[in-house]
Amino acid sequence: MLNRQGRPTAPQTHDPGAGLGDEAANRQGDRSSPAGRGGDRPTFTGNRALAQEEPLIFEIGRADCTGVDLDEPDAFTPRLGGLERKGAIGLPGLSEPETVRHYVRLSQMNYGIDTGLFPLGSCTMKHNARLNERAARLPGFGDLHPLQPLSTVQGALALMSELARYLMTLTGMPAVALSPKAGAHGELLGMMAIKAAIDAKGEGATRRIVLVPESAHGTNPATAALLGFTVKSVPARDDGWVHVDDVKPLLGPEVAAIMLTNPNTCGLFEPQVIEIAEALHAAGAYFYCDGANFNAIVGKARPGDLGVDAMHINLHKTFSTPHGGGGPGAGPVVLSERLAPYAPVPFVTSFPSPQGGGEDGFTLVEHAGDAAGTAPVGRITAFHGQMGMYVRALAYMLSHGADGMRQASEDAVLNANYIRAGLADLMSLPFGNKPCMHEALFDDAWLRDTGVTTLDVAKAMIDEGYHPMTMYFPLVVRGAMLIEPTESESKASLDLFIATMRDLAMAARRGEAERFTGAPYHAPRRRLDETRAARQPILKWTPPAPAE
Ligand SMILES: Cc1ncc(COP(=O)(O)O)c(C=O)c1O
Repeated sequence: MLNRQGRPTAPQTHDPGAGLGDEAANRQGDRSSPAGRGGDRPTFTGNRALAQEEPLIFEIGRADCTGVDLDEPDAFTPRLGGLERKGAIGLPGLSEPETVRHYVRLSQMNYGIDTGLFPLGSCTMKHNARLNERAARLPGFGDLHPLQPLSTVQGALALMSELARYLMTLTGMPAVALSPKAGAHGELLGMMAIKAAIDAKGEGATRRIVLVPESAHGTNPATAALLGFTVKSVPARDDGWVHVDDVKPLLGPEVAAIMLTNPNTCGLFEPQVIEIAEALHAAGAYFYCDGANFNAIVGKARPGDLGVDAMHINLHKTFSTPHGGGGPGAGPVVLSERLAPYAPVPFVTSFPSPQGGGEDGFTLVEHAGDAAGTAPVGRITAFHGQMGMYVRALAYMLSHGADGMRQASEDAVLNANYIRAGLADLMSLPFGNKPCMHEALFDDAWLRDTGVTTLDVAKAMIDEGYHPMTMYFPLVVRGAMLIEPTESESKASLDLFIATMRDLAMAARRGEAERFTGAPYHAPRRRLDETRAARQPILKWTPPAPAE
């Protein structure tokens, strides 16, 4: 049975909505039901205590209602040449309290890092320290405009310069481009710099191949393909590592680069990374490192010492800036000496203060022609990148210090291994029970013959109040479950998570498939047809047909 939004309605044991208006009756059928587990009685309102049901704003909004009282505009002469709107456009209206409630209720259906442990592997959902938020909101940073005269933003430029210095120090690389707005954007910039360097050597027509391990994040081959390279896979091995013996036969004058993630997407440090870098360089190719997992090795290993030529850093993963908070993120790219001349504009440079006293002044190199001796790939963002993220990342670095950042990496690795050890007897590990880095990777072999899939386990985790782990990634592992607890979690929080996962694992093994296959039972919405939602998304609300 479908309600008017096309969502399946919950089975009704009685009909308390009979005689109500269409709106109320619709809400009755719209909610999820825990039928089949616990047998909870449906409530009259559709609310379940603090879990408040909430329709779409179009369903509750009214054309004749508004939360603001605006004066009638003064008489004016229309200047749109007859293109003015002729009638109402049907926006839903709500009073101010109704609007606030609508969005608060929706927000309460969400799960975030401030709700609980967020085990999404490869995404590093770690605590966003409030100190960093406070720093980002200081008027001197929060109220900046990118078109302000440089003399009025010297502090901001000093901060960008300091952040760049820290990133170069932590990675052991001589140059950094701050402006990319996400990891994938950084990948694009790093590979553009590699392409520019190859073109400068006159090898652009021949070096057309980029090697990408089968375990790579999808953004790696996508980036290479976007730049017109041909992607060649480096096969996966049973141990989860990339072997130099598999890379060497693929090298030749037509290879431009490898895009290798380290620590890799299987949660393992690549032990042959230096040999791989040496083999690439000997063949005249470049080493692009996907540094999304840098959070596992900050203060422990420097990519510059491993032979990396370009690497992006996801500030939101390693330096705890919010994921997408308040706008785009930031994915700075560090570059080796060979690639530094191709860094994009704009970048910050310093000059001795005209007043003397050792204080530097700062300026921005905005145009490719202004950067003497270099051949920048140009500009890849409007303005200078995401200032709010720069402030937060530097606040994280300064508040942790070098020892604190090293400890954060160690704790991230310790926590992931604690989870691995706590679950290894019940859940299967694809590469054997060996130490991992910052995330623990399980496969679905332990679910064989249970009738339960990785997706079912994820849904049952929702009922237990957890966001699911990353599923079915990396693709080289069957039914992958990638769990990244991050360093932010306490031992008590990890113990509860492990106990929950053990309870689920034992239930699956006991044959309690129904607990999984029907899950989630307690979420605001029951299981959705995710394939249909992805392939045929309904992106526009359609008003219901008038009642007969
Ligand atoms: C290994 C890896 N590479 C690249 C990316 C892309 O980073 P972003 O999401 O910031 O674009 C991710 C993101 O999850 C990742 O895990």
